[in-house]
Amino acid sequence: MNLILLGAPGAGKGTQAEKICAKYSIPAVSTGNIIREALKNGTDMGLKAKSYIDAGKLVPDDVVIGIVKERLSEDDCKNGFILDGFPRTIPQAEALDKMGVRIDKVVDIEVPDEKIASRLSGRRVCLKCGATYHLEFKKPAKEGVCDVCGDELVQRKDDSPETVLDRLSVYHEQTEPLKDYYAKTGKLVIVEGQENVEDTTALVFKSLEE
Ligand code: AP5
Ligand code: MG
Repeated sequence: MNLILLGAPGAGKGTQAEKICAKYSIPAVSTGNIIREALKNGTDMGLKAKSYIDAGKLVPDDVVIGIVKERLSEDDCKNGFILDGFPRTIPQAEALDKMGVRIDKVVDIEVPDEKIASRLSGRRVCLKCGATYHLEFKKPAKEGVCDVCGDELVQRKDDSPETVLDRLSVYHEQTEPLKDYYAKTGKLVIVEGQENVEDTTALVFKSLEE
């Protein structure tokens, strides 16, 4: 199954990608995670992307398209994959079409802007293993410590309230038009993001089985 997860920043794409990944045994390709990893490792691409990511802007299309093309050609994507955070613009969607990649479903997780701020300001992440938590909705067993690897939990730089507003406006301007793009292909399904993760997951799984 080849899937795209669409949704505003903080809609829960990464959270649901993990659940789908576990149930269907297909890898999640998260462009945000790949870029942050490159940044951490100080690669050229990471350095190029830093100013964009920190400001809540989109990294240039050619950079992200290159990342995805390379990643999808790896062996573990042969039996399916979940694209989390890609495409984010119409040119990215067109590039994916041009790569000849077949998409089975596009799941759009809808969460109103008012709820996004608290979700993102409460998010804490582990820079070492990439696990994500929330101060209220998904607490680690021990405060400030990653359940998976024991490293320290921190706040993503772009989760500061001002940057979240910028990310939301970028989303509405550049990413939301993708809903129409995929609605026209008949592949779009809309899932209303619920107050808790499990309820959202149940709706996501149901949408994949339909
Ligand atoms: P990226 O990392 O993809 O960030 P994003 O899309 O802005 O989305 P987030 O990861 O913040 O949110 P999410 O939907 O994954 O939510 P999560 O599950 O974590 O991209 C970052 C940056 O990289 C971009 O700004 C851009 O610069 C660059 N980039 C990446 N891809 C690009 C592309 N294709 N083109 C150009 N540039 C690109 O959930 C959020 C929080 O809410 C968590 O704390 C979670 O625990 C909590 N939560 C989740 N579900 C629920 C629920 N149901 N109820 C309550 N809380 C919940
Ligand atoms: Mg994410």
